[in-house]
Amino acid sequence: MGNIIDGKAYAAALREEVKKGVQEIRSVHGVSPGLAVILVGNDPASEVYVASKGKMCREAGMEAFDFRLPADTTESQLIAKITEMNKDKKVNGILVQLPLPKHIHENAVINAIDPQKDVDGLHTINTGRLATGQEGMIPCTPLGCLILLKHVLGDMSGKHAVIVGRSNLVGKPMAQLLLRENCTVTVCHSHTKNLAEICRQADILVAATGKAELITGEWVKNDAVVIDVGINRIRLSDDTTKLVGDVAFAEARQRVKAITPVPGGVGPMTIACLLANTLKAACLQNKIQSNNLINI
Ligand code: GUN
Repeated sequence: MGNIIDGKAYAAALREEVKKGVQEIRSVHGVSPGLAVILVGNDPASEVYVASKGKMCREAGMEAFDFRLPADTTESQLIAKITEMNKDKKVNGILVQLPLPKHIHENAVINAIDPQKDVDGLHTINTGRLATGQEGMIPCTPLGCLILLKHVLGDMSGKHAVIVGRSNLVGKPMAQLLLRENCTVTVCHSHTKNLAEICRQADILVAATGKAELITGEWVKNDAVVIDVGINRIRLSDDTTKLVGDVAFAEARQRVKAITPVPGGVGPMTIACLLANTLKAACLQNKIQSNNLINI
C-alpha cells in the first residue's frame, strides 16, 4: 500500500515560509505585499476559492483586495479594472478567477495583466518564459504538484511522466516543468488512443481531466507516484455528495509508491503557491532579495 502525500501539511509549511518572508520584507524594506483577486459573476465553487484565497493571504500577513463584479460585466470594464490594479503600487499580484463568463475572452483579459503582477503565471509572456527556460511566474497548481513530487522523489531525471489533461492552467505548464526536470513527458487528452496503456507506463502520473475517478487502479503502474489534480463532486446512492479526484484513490493506492488524496492533496498547495508567487512578485517589483522565495 502506497504512502499518502499530505498536501495539507506541505502547504502549511510553505505558508509559514511565506509568512516569514512577508515579515522580513515589511520590517527591513517597508514593503507590504498585496494581492487583488477579481471574481466576475457568482459561480459557487469560485466564490469558495476566492474567499479561501483572501483568508490565507491575510493569515500570511499580506493585504487582500477582493473585487466582485456582476456576471454582465463587459470585457472592457474588466480590462479597465485590471489597468487600475496594474497602476496601484499596493497591489503586487493580480488574479482573475477562472472560468470567466462566456462573453469575455479569457486570453485578452489575462494578457491585460502586467506580467510582473501575473501571479497565476498565465500571461503569454510568462508561459513563453517557462517554455524557453527563462525566469518568470509559474502557474500555481503545477508548481504545487512539482513541489510535492520533489518531496517524494527528489531527482526525477529520466522518469516517464504522463500527464492526463492539456489545459493552459495545469496540463501544459506541468509538461514544461517536468521537461525542465529532465523527465520524458507524454501529454494525453480526450482524443488520446490507448489511454489506459499509456498511463500504465507512467513512473509519474498527473491526472487533470475533471472526470471523476476516470483513472482506475488497473491503469496505474506498480510503484508509480500519482498526483491527482481533479476535484469532482459526485452524488452517492443515498443522495449525499462527496469530493473525489480523477483517480480511483483506494484502488490506485494498492499499487503506488505514493499518491495525493482529494481533498487535502494538490488543492492546499495551489493556494500556498499563490501566496509564494505574490511574495516573489512583491520582491521583484521592489528589487528585494529574499531567502524565503521558492527556489525551484
Ligand atoms: N480557477 C481554478 N483554478 C484557478 C487558478 O489556479 N487560477 C485562476 N485564476 N482561476 C482558477
